[in-house]
Amino acid sequence: MQNKLLTAKATLPVYDRNALVPRIVHLGFGAFHRAHQAVYADILAAEHGSDWGYTEVNLIGGEQQIADLNQQNTLYTVAEMSADAWTARVVGVVKRALHAEVDGLETVFSAMCEPQVAIVSLTITEKGYCHSPATGELMLDHPLIAADLRDPHHPRSAPGVIVEALARRKAAGLAAFSVMSCDNMPENGHVLRKVVCAYARAVDAGLAAWIEQHVTFPSTMVDRIVPAVTADTLDKIEQLTGVRDPAGVACEPFRQWVIEDNFVAGRPQWEKAGAELVSDVIPFEEMKLRMLNGSHSFLAYLGYLAGYQHINDCMEDDNYRRAAHALMLKEQAPTLKVKGVDLGRYAGLLIDRYSNPALRHRTWQIAMDGSQKLPQRMLDSVRWHLVHQTPFDLLALGVAGWMRYVGGVDEQGNAIEVCDPLLAEIQAAVRHSAEGEARVQALLSIEAIFGKELPLENLFVSKVTKAYLSLLENGAKATVAAAAGSL
Ligand SMILES: NC(=O)c1ccc[n+]([C@@H]2O[C@H](COP(=O)([O-])OP(=O)(O)OC[C@H]3O[C@@H](n4cnc5c(N)ncnc54)[C@H](O)[C@@H]3O)[C@@H](O)[C@H]2O)c1
Repeated sequence: MQNKLLTAKATLPVYDRNALVPRIVHLGFGAFHRAHQAVYADILAAEHGSDWGYTEVNLIGGEQQIADLNQQNTLYTVAEMSADAWTARVVGVVKRALHAEVDGLETVFSAMCEPQVAIVSLTITEKGYCHSPATGELMLDHPLIAADLRDPHHPRSAPGVIVEALARRKAAGLAAFSVMSCDNMPENGHVLRKVVCAYARAVDAGLAAWIEQHVTFPSTMVDRIVPAVTADTLDKIEQLTGVRDPAGVACEPFRQWVIEDNFVAGRPQWEKAGAELVSDVIPFEEMKLRMLNGSHSFLAYLGYLAGYQHINDCMEDDNYRRAAHALMLKEQAPTLKVKGVDLGRYAGLLIDRYSNPALRHRTWQIAMDGSQKLPQRMLDSVRWHLVHQTPFDLLALGVAGWMRYVGGVDEQGNAIEVCDPLLAEIQAAVRHSAEGEARVQALLSIEAIFGKELPLENLFVSKVTKAYLSLLENGAKATVAAAAGSL
């Protein structure tokens, strides 16, 4: 298989793969990492002589992805797709791929405790942090965390694995590594620091103090749209390269990475591959989370309800396109602190990226895990508007769209497959409330999503209720059309 991929019609890794050193252990070998951080490392190796390589680890789920990768000597294809052209590269920077449940935790810890490991990075989705999205605090009663705290030498959660690896490095007299989140969360480095330190304190106060002193948690803003891989994606990649690659992934041509330059044991020269190294990532992160991810969620819920399967389908509906653009510029942009960015241009570029017909990013995929996403994508902005007494009708409509979606039945009466780590709580709220205003009240009472104060804000409650009732009565298309009509 190695030879097969090395004959693909693609940019091939012509650098010396044997010279790569696995200095980064990455947790979460999902679609995004394959098309983002690994591509930056591949460009550095191919064009700048970098020897930074990866050990890839999946902790929970994704067994097949690791097996596929190992089948082909840890090579895989990334295809960039736009309306008129597809290009491909075979990425060669992965030195080794492990699965905690297949290869065993000890193998994972051995990899994390190799002296040269400088960075442990993560793309494990928001729920992998086991924190409350409303407060950012580690949930000590989270089933994974509670189990890990009972047996900290055999953890399953990401915080548990990171802390045990650091404990072993400390005990062996090895230097610490930096831990870098590349997940879509506001202040992702701070969230990660909070959960890792809180977990460590619950295990051993001395270890927690060592971590606080020796480990850094740089924040990052990551951007590239990478839809979940389907059989159709793999077919298209095969047509393009001539090689079937089950580990292949396809994405848009655009990529962006803003990284807080705060590493304890060195880092690759990512700036040479186009990343921006800055002292404060938070304003960039906030911009991306609210303008891109916020409008994505808006389109995902309201688009799914209207029968639009993909984001680019939503963009073909003039009302959806105008509403998403207005959400970005009128209700998200005013809340941002970022300086020196033309937000009008940024919003226009986002609409162009969403319209890419080759992407086929499923609304259902973006709609997943809403409980983990709404706080940073919409609710923080709502709080800002309440303080500043400015309009937030589109944000309220987005929240109402989520409520209608998690009700579990679409506008044609078909069941919706709702995926969410808080599904039990959400379903209980839906089951025990009558359809209509009472349903809105029941969902607003989920504190892990809405916190304590927001559900007491009459203006917020009334706007969400009004939007929700319109979705029930008129449907999503007509409600979005009315919202777009009043812009
Ligand atoms: N796909 C995108 O377009 C995109 C863009 C920007 C940022 N991101 C970020 O990357 C994350 C991953 O996205 P993806 O597209 O790679 O998803 P994916 O489903 O392809 O991969 C998810 C990865 O997370 C791991 N994982 C899931 N639950 C876990 C848990 N509880 N503990 C530890 N690991 C767990 C899985 O093993 C898998 O490797 C997103 O949640 C988001 O924060 C994605």
